[in-house]
Amino acid sequence: MSTRQHRAGKIIAVGGGKGGIGKTVVSASLAIALAEAQKEVVVIDGDLGGANLHAVFGIYLPRLTLYDFYSRKVSRLSDLVLDTPIPGVRVICGAPGTPGMANIRYWEKLKTLRHLNYLDADFVIVDLGAGMSYNEIDFFNSADIGIVVASPEPTSIHECYNFIKMALFRKLHRAFMDEPDVMDILRRSADPMHLHDRRLMSQIAEEIRGRNLRAGIRFYKLLNHTSPKLILNKLHHYQEYQDGLSLQVAVQELLRIKVEYWGYLPYSPHVPQAIRERRPDQILRSDTQLRKHVVKIVQKFLLQRPVAYHAPGARPIVPITDVQSAARAHPSVLEREERICSIHCPLWGNCHYQEGGLPCRMPLKEYETRVLGRQSSPPKNMDSMDLPENSVSNDG
Ligand SMILES: Nc1ncnc2c1ncn2[C@@H]1O[C@H](COP(=O)(O)OP(=O)(O)OP(=O)(O)O)[C@@H](O)[C@H]1O
Ligand SMILES: [Mg+2]
Repeated sequence: MSTRQHRAGKIIAVGGGKGGIGKTVVSASLAIALAEAQKEVVVIDGDLGGANLHAVFGIYLPRLTLYDFYSRKVSRLSDLVLDTPIPGVRVICGAPGTPGMANIRYWEKLKTLRHLNYLDADFVIVDLGAGMSYNEIDFFNSADIGIVVASPEPTSIHECYNFIKMALFRKLHRAFMDEPDVMDILRRSADPMHLHDRRLMSQIAEEIRGRNLRAGIRFYKLLNHTSPKLILNKLHHYQEYQDGLSLQVAVQELLRIKVEYWGYLPYSPHVPQAIRERRPDQILRSDTQLRKHVVKIVQKFLLQRPVAYHAPGARPIVPITDVQSAARAHPSVLEREERICSIHCPLWGNCHYQEGGLPCRMPLKEYETRVLGRQSSPPKNMDSMDLPENSVSNDG
């Protein structure tokens, strides 16, 4: 174990359930954009059964892999870190095709999680495998930031929902292991043959609160502090981002937690080409839309730097179902309730009040000037904004 006593930088886990939706590409892209912003990044291949991160980074046969760690040839995870052709990005590779690697033992997982904290980097990105085994879920839940990736197809959205649900239930189980009352309710809810399976998380929370007030408060707190981040990948058309909205609504209504929408990445033919040619430097070709969207996500959400533009939906979308409760909490918004922020507004994508689904927060005067054109409104700066596009182009 390393002697470093201080924690590593932020640990980000990238999961999402379905295979082939772009978890590895998203992990690699975020790492490259972070490195361009002068951050040190280590990406780990957490896809233990189907490791391929090394290939994305142009490494043919890694000389050190996680197998060396689990077979105790090296004692520290940090001994496995390898350079990549991208300055600032280093990787810890998996061992593809190695028997047993997909099924590491519980203590091996705990050891890996412990060692992650001592890697010398500003950001550690864990690229998870497909599926929702406890390996994926536990790495996801123990990260500082959990990103789920989905592509805009019903199967992917559905699996992403299930991934979020599994992760939440696992978290609740672990948090309430010592509360038999709560465990009993959770167990009943997880039984697919049981009527209670269809209950909403809010009903489960209420039942727990009814039985045990202290546990109920803790339960609500945990729900309120759980917020996976969503990146939609491989969009062919801007409008497909609506699938992200439907996932958000489903998660909020059924699981009572908020998914934070971080934005979308367009489909780019350069990605498979760069991987085929083992040219990681070409994944974010400087002229692509893909690059623009990755950089936006990194700047805004990982580095908390102001961005000069708002991608459509890059601000967290608040589902339309929230309008009534928002209006109740802030009666002043009622006056403006007839103006609901949506993609149908001509200012969508160029408005710093943007909160899709909520009543418009723009003062009436400004709204009249900008939307109704009562005065000579300033022209929209097409370079600094990201208006809804008819189609997502692949070349800039
Ligand atoms: N934005 C994109 N544009 C075009 N192709 C993409 C994009 N993102 C990913 N791909 C392609 O999709 C395929 C799957 O991507 P990737 O390996 O990242 O998925 P994954 O979710 O990590 O898969 P697995 O579950 O097998 O680990 C790759 O061939 C990659 O080139
Ligand atoms: Mg992968």
